[in-house]
Amino acid sequence: MKKHRSILFLIFLTLAQKTIAQLPIIPYPNKVLQGKGFYTVTTSATKEAVIVIDTSAGSVVTSPEGYYLTVTPKQIKVVAKTKVGAFYAMQTLLQLEAASKKIPVITIEDAPAFGYRGLMLDVGRHFMPIGFIKQLLDVMAMQKMNNLHLHLTEDQGWRIEIKKYPKLTSVGSVRGGTLIGKYPGSGNTNAAYGGFYTQAQLKELVAYAAAKHINIIPEIEMPGHASAAIAAYPELSCFPNEPTQLTKNMYATATENKIKTVGGKIVQETWGVFDDVFAPSEYTFNFIENVLDEVMDIFPSSYIHIGGDECPKTAWKRSSYCQNLMKEKGIANEHALQSYFIQRVEKYVNSKGRKIIGWDEILEGGLAPNATVMSWQGEEGGITAAKEHHDVIMTPQGSCYLNFYQSSDPRDSIAFGGFLPLEAVYSYNPVPAALTAEEATYIKGVQGNLWTEYIANKDLASFMLFPRAMAIAENGWTKTKTGFDHFTNRVTKWQPILKQKGLHFSDHLYNVQITSKPIAGGINVSIGGISKAHKIVYNTNGKLPSVNDQIYTGPITITGDANLQAGVIVNNKITDVASAAFSINKATGAKLISLVHVPKAPYNKSGNTGFINGILANDARFSDGEWLAWEGKSIDATLDLGAATKITQIATRFINSRGSWIHLPTSVEVLGSEDGKTFTRIGLQQNFDTSKEGNLTVSFSIPSTSIRYIQLIAHPVAIIPAGFAGAGNPSWLFMDELIIK
Ligand code: ACM
Repeated sequence: MKKHRSILFLIFLTLAQKTIAQLPIIPYPNKVLQGKGFYTVTTSATKEAVIVIDTSAGSVVTSPEGYYLTVTPKQIKVVAKTKVGAFYAMQTLLQLEAASKKIPVITIEDAPAFGYRGLMLDVGRHFMPIGFIKQLLDVMAMQKMNNLHLHLTEDQGWRIEIKKYPKLTSVGSVRGGTLIGKYPGSGNTNAAYGGFYTQAQLKELVAYAAAKHINIIPEIEMPGHASAAIAAYPELSCFPNEPTQLTKNMYATATENKIKTVGGKIVQETWGVFDDVFAPSEYTFNFIENVLDEVMDIFPSSYIHIGGDECPKTAWKRSSYCQNLMKEKGIANEHALQSYFIQRVEKYVNSKGRKIIGWDEILEGGLAPNATVMSWQGEEGGITAAKEHHDVIMTPQGSCYLNFYQSSDPRDSIAFGGFLPLEAVYSYNPVPAALTAEEATYIKGVQGNLWTEYIANKDLASFMLFPRAMAIAENGWTKTKTGFDHFTNRVTKWQPILKQKGLHFSDHLYNVQITSKPIAGGINVSIGGISKAHKIVYNTNGKLPSVNDQIYTGPITITGDANLQAGVIVNNKITDVASAAFSINKATGAKLISLVHVPKAPYNKSGNTGFINGILANDARFSDGEWLAWEGKSIDATLDLGAATKITQIATRFINSRGSWIHLPTSVEVLGSEDGKTFTRIGLQQNFDTSKEGNLTVSFSIPSTSIRYIQLIAHPVAIIPAGFAGAGNPSWLFMDELIIK
């Protein structure tokens, strides 16, 4: 019987497919059957129960969050197993109503793919007003998201009132200034910045969220990212009497000077990872337990997030207290000490009937027995945890970090280096291919994260969240996705809803891709990556594109240095601006005859020949596809220019961003050959000035000579030295276009 019903349903579904695209619902329901006509409210019907909620029919709806929704011209009927399912049916109705003002005759059978569908908001780097968090909760509920993770404590500010430790907010919630611009910045505002939530405000927020079936997970960071707490209570540090130190890679002149004059511990004013972390002492554990008591009193969440990420071991290594503790307890190394720390806290949290969740570094030195892992550095942490039968929330930065750039629009504000366009979020599948079906059951859901180093206010936060948070909602809910075009169509219907709610959003829907193919004397440039339904316009005059610019119909031939600006026309307006700069030189389109190590994903999007394709990398966006990157390996490339060629200059650029594990090469060498067999060195440079973060051009002037084969070798910093972010790991080498003149 059940079988027949679903076969019939499938037939109807196939017949109805053409009209499905019209339903502006996000996340898209799992089964939709649209009929003819619309539900019409008639005044005479007001006394009838036009909406019937049937939570008794457990046999029809099995998922606690699922629902059946049937709309006829005369009646709307909801069947759900629980109040949550009925609530989600209502959200579907509200979306239909809000987006199209009428509710079509329809049958929907819906239930989520994952039990956990979340967003994280970092209120530590920048404080976000309660009113904004409520607006966010409103939209999350409409999109059937059920967890808001609040990152409440950071190096740059402690944001939650703790009655037992008043200095956490009187001292820890205020920093004396903020780095200006992109790290390492052009100075410091030297203006006090702060903010915190009272316990009463948070309790009210928890109740507001609960009414929308959203759980709020509080995160109290430990043992790292603890500078604000340490500034308030220096005894939490291994070295209470030492002034706040910046790691070498986090050098920022303004803050450095301030420490010299002020002394003592300060709330951090720049971004990064800092060495002064919690000491694993009885004083600290007592502090944490007292703090968590108050936190658990405010937040009924079964998950308590304890951070655990990015904890340098530098202080623990040189602390005699830590070294003695390790000997006494038989703790093998500092990673095991981190595990000891987390496991002690887990025991306490478990004793209160709650469970811990932490970033994937809590795997270091052995996972706490009942911990849930939030996999952020990639999928590996999640895969390891799932294989060990631990619950996992997937939030890999390459797919879920909503603070990364969302377009190559030159107007996009400063963001973290990564590039994560809407389509890249949408195409993410939270279940890693490496897991068996049984292991995959430990993947409990997916979350989008908004870190706010470069997001100073609610409007920018909203702009970065939307529409990408909608793709996260869909990834968490929709079992069989309907495709990116179908999704973006629905997103455009959502824009007026966000606008009406006073929320900002980005209109970047597509990832306009500018690619090249070498031709004699230049390149053919293609603009693609978007739905064929929309026109693309472009210019090379250096201005933002306008609707009156040239319409793109096919590859554009570029034979000299140039800038291209392209835009997509949506509703007679330009959206999705993209730009690229070209250099046509003697390396452009040369034959790559050897590349000893290939660039590593995801920094290989333009392929092995991305450094001779005529397209320059973008100064700020590390993952624009045009920066090629090697992890711990040398760049060793040999080109054939086709014939003996007169050259006078060879140049390229490298990134120095040591906070992101990206180091300059230790040396760059160029060699030349006439026959492709015997190479002689024509230039060597080393001992680059590493103190300046940013991009370094390495250029060789060649005494005018004729060469056919060119070999370029750049050696990496093999292992990141102590004192720098990622110490002990291989460094990354990032290289731009090779230019031969
Ligand atoms: C993180 O991004 N450090 C969790």
